[in-house]
Amino acid sequence: MSWIHSVLFLCLTLSWCVVVTGDTDDGGAPMDKTEQEALYSAIQGFVGDSWNGSDLYPDPCGWTPIQGVSCDLYGDLWYVTDLTLGLVHENSLPCGTSLVIKPELFKLKHLKSLTFFNCFVSPITLAKEDWINLGSNLESLEFRSNPGLIGGLPETIGSLTKLKSLVVLENGFNGKVPASLCNLTRLQRLVLAGNLFTGTIPDCFNGFKDLLILDLSRNLFSGTLPLSIGEMVSLLKLDLSNNQIEGELPQELGVLKNLTLLDLRNNIISGGLFENIVKIRSLTDLVLSGNPMGSDDDDMMGIKWENLDNLVILDLSKMGLRGEIPSGLASLKRLRFLGLNDNNLTGLVPSKELETLPCLGALYINGNNLTGELGFSRKFYEKMGTRFKASKNPNLCQHVVSGSQQLKPCMMEKTEDGLVIKQTWSNLKKEEEKKDESSSSAMGVMVTRHVLSNGFMWDLLLLELSLLVVLYY
Ligand SMILES: *[C@@H]1O[C@H](CO)[C@@H](O)[C@H](O)[C@H]1NC(C)=O
Ligand SMILES: *[C@@H]1O[C@H](CO)[C@@H](O)[C@H](O)[C@H]1NC(C)=O
Ligand SMILES: *[C@@H]1O[C@H](CO)[C@@H](O)[C@H](O)[C@H]1NC(C)=O
Ligand SMILES: *[C@@H]1O[C@H](CO)[C@@H](O)[C@H](O)[C@H]1NC(C)=O
Ligand SMILES: *[C@@H]1O[C@H](CO)[C@@H](O)[C@H](O)[C@H]1NC(C)=O
Repeated sequence: MSWIHSVLFLCLTLSWCVVVTGDTDDGGAPMDKTEQEALYSAIQGFVGDSWNGSDLYPDPCGWTPIQGVSCDLYGDLWYVTDLTLGLVHENSLPCGTSLVIKPELFKLKHLKSLTFFNCFVSPITLAKEDWINLGSNLESLEFRSNPGLIGGLPETIGSLTKLKSLVVLENGFNGKVPASLCNLTRLQRLVLAGNLFTGTIPDCFNGFKDLLILDLSRNLFSGTLPLSIGEMVSLLKLDLSNNQIEGELPQELGVLKNLTLLDLRNNIISGGLFENIVKIRSLTDLVLSGNPMGSDDDDMMGIKWENLDNLVILDLSKMGLRGEIPSGLASLKRLRFLGLNDNNLTGLVPSKELETLPCLGALYINGNNLTGELGFSRKFYEKMGTRFKASKNPNLCQHVVSGSQQLKPCMMEKTEDGLVIKQTWSNLKKEEEKKDESSSSAMGVMVTRHVLSNGFMWDLLLLELSLLVVLYY
């Protein structure tokens, strides 16, 4: 048994294997001649004319595998099923500088997965091409990190009706999203993030019952959110952050019972959010920061935050929120990150309640108009470290605690009822105070972003992993 393993190992690593074993001298994995030539030609278009596939890889589905190419047996011939172009691994075939999408690419009719990673650097637009030829099998199409891909996404992408995953991430695409995308109702993942897409988000999600991830973040989408968004009943992750979406959030959002991540940060959404969002009990990550919701009369006080008891990350910073910090937040036992900074919050800080949150590792309440005394223990400040910010609250004071003094010290005075705060700050030099506050608040923002992006990377990774399982097993 073990010598067979050794021979197999040799087969995989050394090309003279066929000669050694002698009994597979037909060349290993027989391919249809047109398929094989189409593969060489297609790759040559990306790598460059000097690349001679038939010379270097005489048996591409057998004993001379090409990095980035996978094959499968149909009948008694081998066909290419996966093709990845660009520098994914160190030994991948790198894309050349003046590359061409050869028509032969669209002859690989058994392709299930086609990926371009870090391939297009010089400007190129995708012509309509013959995408429809790949329509009967292609399940995954990815363009990742191709700054050279500019112009519109071709309308013909909509003919790939078997697609389960369409990832168009961090390229230079612009213009409107083609309406034909509405035909791709089998999608489980639709990512158009990090391009320059404009126009409204198409209102055609009615058929997208299997969609798990919708990420349109970091584009120039405008207009209001489509109502059909509530039809994507399986949705786990909805990221529309960093666009120019306006108006109110539709009630329909409340029916997304499986949604765990909702990121709408840095849009112009002006209301309708809270009463709809508290219906989505599955939420773990809720990021609404940077939307002007302060004008909404439903201030965050009226919301039953305790309903969202799965929340891990809650970022409500820079929203112009008014009112007091809702006490319901203190029953969110899984909360790790709470950002309330740079709003117009008033009243006392429910320090004792917030301190009981067992997982809380970051708390930002800086840049508000909170009053009274911060009642956190020394242990709490130590646990938080730099991930606690309370500065820029002119009427808030803090006991002298070594290490993390961000506010004026509270002056205590004994009365008949016990200790009472006396708000006189005359012992602090104004200048020193200003300097301290501005630097710590700048830090606050930086740390917020950092912590948050780490959190998201992690979530994204988990989601991607679960998707891999969903898609390929
Ligand atoms: C590759 O090399 C072979 C000879 O080794 C030659 O016949 C063939 O024309 C070459 N193909 C290309 C595309 O250069
Ligand atoms: C998309 O579907 C519509 C009908 O809903 C059809 O007219 C159109 O041709 C399809 N587009 C593509 C690109 O397949
Ligand atoms: C929501 O998630 C549960 C558990 O993962 C699953 O059983 C259910 O089918 C999902 N609902 C929808 C509408 O996809
Ligand atoms: C707070 O409210 C005041 C007056 O209502 C307004 O001038 C100020 O811009 C608001 N601050 C923030 C950060 O929204
Ligand atoms: C902060 O709140 C106090 C009342 O507690 C109010 O007098 C003051 O105008 C507020 N400051 C700002 C900037 O809104």
